[in-house]
This record gives sequence, structure tokens and C-alpha cells, in this order.
Amino acid sequence: METIRQILLVRRPQGVPVPEDFALAEAPMPVPGDGEMLVKMRVGSLDAAIRGFLDDRPSYLPPVALGAPINGMSLGEIVASRNADWPVGTLVRTMATWSDHYVIDGNALGLEAVHPQPGNDLHHYMGALGPVGLTAWVGLFAVGEAKPGETVVVSAAAGATGSTVGQIAKARGCKVIGLVGSAQKAQTILDLGFDAAIDYRATPDIAAEIAKIVPDGVDVYYDNVGGETLEAILPLMRLHGRIAVCGMIGQYNDADHPHGVKTLWQLVVNRIRMQGFITYDYPQVLDQAQRELDAWAADGILRPLANVRQGFEKLPQAFIDLMSGRTIGKTLVLI
Ligand SMILES: NC(=O)c1ccc[n+]([C@@H]2O[C@H](COP(=O)([O-])OP(=O)(O)OC[C@H]3O[C@@H](n4cnc5c(N)ncnc54)[C@H](OP(=O)(O)O)[C@@H]3O)[C@@H](O)[C@H]2O)c1
Repeated sequence: METIRQILLVRRPQGVPVPEDFALAEAPMPVPGDGEMLVKMRVGSLDAAIRGFLDDRPSYLPPVALGAPINGMSLGEIVASRNADWPVGTLVRTMATWSDHYVIDGNALGLEAVHPQPGNDLHHYMGALGPVGLTAWVGLFAVGEAKPGETVVVSAAAGATGSTVGQIAKARGCKVIGLVGSAQKAQTILDLGFDAAIDYRATPDIAAEIAKIVPDGVDVYYDNVGGETLEAILPLMRLHGRIAVCGMIGQYNDADHPHGVKTLWQLVVNRIRMQGFITYDYPQVLDQAQRELDAWAADGILRPLANVRQGFEKLPQAFIDLMSGRTIGKTLVLI
């Protein structure tokens, strides 16, 4: 019997996940029914949002059941199809499970065909030329309304989303300050063209440090971490500033004890707009975003940053590294 490999959740993580929370298992090869396709995973995407699905609490997807394969985005190739709209050989991105083969139908969450441009590595279409780039673009321009000449601050700035936000903000003529958790990450974003980098672990007062660089304040804060960082930046926001809330990774490993932000009154003082978003809430801008990302990459203005591992069985460790803050760029596993 032909089998597939899957990564199962066998224990709910406490804090940062550990290898014992996951197990590699085999299962029979699934067979597509009428209207369905069998997909071979080519690139697995490690996303902070997966941490939310591992707790037994409602998120924007139901929790993963104990003993079930983990949910995650992946890029794969259709290898068998009983759906005329999705022929064999099509490359697709979709929400799937951590299974080296899986069956989906045409209504799978986030399903879209991928058309790699010649010369670009396929895995970047799961990164800065794919969902990561679209998230950066939507948050910065559609939600944050960043304009040329404005000042942008972005947290987790050497990560997948943050490193893209900084580069596309520079491409539009903004001044960009990145907040990062190590000297190596600070150097990485300076090399990408950020105007300034602040290592928050080595800086006792990040608000004072930002104010030294931009005494007139911040127009757009692209928030990836929430918590103390958001609290520190709120008083630096300019009149009619915008905070695009992309995520709050600083809270995910201990979601029972979120940090209480004490500076929210600044929303009133400076008439700040603070808005959370999910990339696919903005279908009307995604074509424009994809075109601009492709053009910036072709011109060398956007350099996709990726942290790539080889082998299906590396998915859990890659996820653990992501949730430990150890990674730089988009964390991906090539199958
Ligand atoms: N709204 C959406 O549609 C959407 C889509 C994708 C991602 N997101 C969000 O975007 C944010 C960034 O995600 P990403 O996939 O691009 O990840 P990432 O930035 O590549 O990696 C995570 C980084 O977050 C930082 N971090 C800060 N506090 C942390 C903590 N307590 N534990 C672990 N890491 C911590 C670390 O960088 P430092 O060492 O520099 O702090 C770490 O390297 C997340 O909040 C995620 O939920 C939102």
C-alpha cells in the first residue's frame, strides 16, 4: 500500500513548542473523489499563526485536534485531479495539513494557482513574492496608508513580514526604522536598506532611542509583536498616525497572560487609527500588490529573505525555531 507522511499534534504546547509536542506518522495515500485533487507538497510554510491553532481555544481556524495533522499553508503540485478547473501539473498555494500529499477541492481555504516568474526560486512564492509580500503590502499601504516621506516603524523587522515591510516602505520613499532582537538581525536589516535598526534586547528604552532618530514622531507603526513594544510606541505616534496591527507574536506562546497596554489613551490624544487586518480581507488590492512585488524583485529593490530547510520531517523543528525568535527571513521547508 502506498503511504504518505504526516506531522501530528500529540500534545498541546506549553509556552514555546518542543519536539515532543509533535510526531511523524504514516497514513494511507488519499484518493481524490469527484471534484477533488491530490496535491504533493513542495514547500511548507511556517507561520506564527499556527501557534494559535495548537491551543484549545477559538482562533480564526478551529484548534487542531490531538492526534490530527497540523494545519498550515503550503505550496504544492497537483499530481492527480478529478476537477477540470485544476489540472495535473498546476502549482497551488492553499491552507492544507502537514502531510506530504493531501486531497483538496476547488473551495479549499486560500486556494490559488501560482505562476512563478522565470529566474525566481519557487520557495519565494511562499514568501516575499507570495503571502508574506502581500501581507506586508496590505498592512503598510492599504491599512497603514504609508506615503512617500513618512516615517515607518516596524517590529520583528528581520522576520519574514518585517523584512519585506521595510524594503517596500523604502521603495515607496518612506523613512524606515526596524526593531529587532539581536545585533545580527540589526545588521541584516541595515544591509537591506533600512534607515535605522534598534536591537530592543540591548536597548533599555526603545521609545527614547526611536525619538532620537525621528524627533517629529512616527506616521505608521507596522505592529508584528504587540505587548510592551506597542505600549512604548503609542506615545511616539504623530497626529493622525496609523497603526497596522498585523500580529502580536510576543503574546502567542503565553496567550493566557497577555501584556496589558497602558498607553491606549494616546489613540485619543493624537487621533490615531489602529486597525487589525487579515491579508485576504483586501482582495481588491492583491493584483496590484503582486505586480508591484514582482516588479520590485525584478529590479533588485526587494530582496526576498528566506531561511530554508530541506526535508518534510524538519517541519516541527523549523516551527520551534520560528517561535523561539531564532530565525531570519521567511521560514520554509522544501519537501
Ligand atoms: N494579519 C495577517 O494576515 C498576517 C499574516 C502573516 C503573519 N502575520 C503576523 O505577522 C507577524 C510576523 O510573522 P512572520 O511569519 O513574519 O514571523 P517572523 O517575523 O519571520 O518571525 C517571528 C519573529 O518575531 C519576533 N518575536 C518577537 N517576540 C517574539 C516571541 N515572544 N516569540 C517568538 N518570536 C518573537 C522575533 O524577532 P525579534 O528577535 O527581532 O524580536 C522572531 O524572529 C506575526 O505576528 C504573525 O502572526 C499576520
